[in-house]
Amino acid sequence: MIVLGIESSCDETGIALYDTERGLLSHALHSQIAMHQEYGGVVPELASRDHVRRALPLLQQALASAQITMREVDAIAYTQGPGLAGALLVGASVACGLGFALQKPMIGIHHLEGHLLSPLLASRPPEFPFVALLVSGGHTQLMRVDGVGRYTLLGETLDDAAGEAFDKSAKLLGLAYPGGPAISQLATSGDPAVHQFPRPMLHSKDLNFSFSGLKTAVLTAVKKYPDALTEQDKANVARGFVDALIDVLVAKCKTAMKETRLKRLVIAGGVGANQQLRAALNAAAASSNPKKRFEVYYPELEFCTDNGAMIAFAGAMRLRQLKEKPELASYDYSFNVKPRWPLSELPPA
Ligand code: KG4
Ligand code: ZN
Repeated sequence: MIVLGIESSCDETGIALYDTERGLLSHALHSQIAMHQEYGGVVPELASRDHVRRALPLLQQALASAQITMREVDAIAYTQGPGLAGALLVGASVACGLGFALQKPMIGIHHLEGHLLSPLLASRPPEFPFVALLVSGGHTQLMRVDGVGRYTLLGETLDDAAGEAFDKSAKLLGLAYPGGPAISQLATSGDPAVHQFPRPMLHSKDLNFSFSGLKTAVLTAVKKYPDALTEQDKANVARGFVDALIDVLVAKCKTAMKETRLKRLVIAGGVGANQQLRAALNAAAASSNPKKRFEVYYPELEFCTDNGAMIAFAGAMRLRQLKEKPELASYDYSFNVKPRWPLSELPPA
């Protein structure tokens, strides 16, 4: 079965074709980062208009590279939420328009489920059950994953998401949007001894996070410099920030592994591309105490941030039994998007 996946929840248009027998056939992506950079963040109206421009050319590209036609597609999956309402509507209308024209079954996918399952696209996929740390621009959650659609929330951020903290702190240092990759690069030349920022909720005895105080600590540190910050000053602040944020993420992951007694940890979402986080988690996983050891799984780097492949894959996982259970798919082409959509509302697959 071949599933077409369409992602348009924020500032990336992603189109992919996933075959349940042969795996990922092709994927095409356009990132709007350059367009939004001028405004220091995502401008929703511009995002929607750009999705309109990109969706069909990217679809042509994905079909050509998979060497198939739309008629060979068995089902269409699209991101139904959460995300920017206008941006979601573009992907949903393109998906349902194609579905109606070709009479293909449709399935609306939860964006976070796409992220959660994205490590299963890797060459070394994890088996269920696992603990997942979902760290993106909009979400920071620890989850127990027992199967497709079987998700238990263990903890989440009470305020800013980890990616948001990265981006806001980077902005305070004058780095362009989205600052996550830039601030972590800058941190590599910073002195870790100069700034000791707070590790919010490190000892909270639960698996929740809070990052807004850390961003304020960065602001306070930046303001303390009487003159403009030198490159080295900025690198030192960046290092203090990255070290603090990663300490918290790693500590909470270790606690989640201990509490669930699971042995597999999966990282998903844009911040999962962060090299410092990967190094720190790998070190924690290889604990000298064999009882505390666990394995860490990452999506391919290109599938950490938003993409169509994870949506096509999540669609394929949900429609696996389509032949036996045709009621799983919808032939109702009147779509509605869900800009706010708790993952807990998803049914098991
Ligand atoms: O998953 P994603 O593409 O979008 C959402 O669903 O939110 O994540 C984007 C976030 C941004 O905040 C970006 O700065 C962050 O992921 N990010 C990184 C890195 N690459 C992307 N943060 C830190 N280090 C990175 N290498
Ligand atoms: Zn995302």
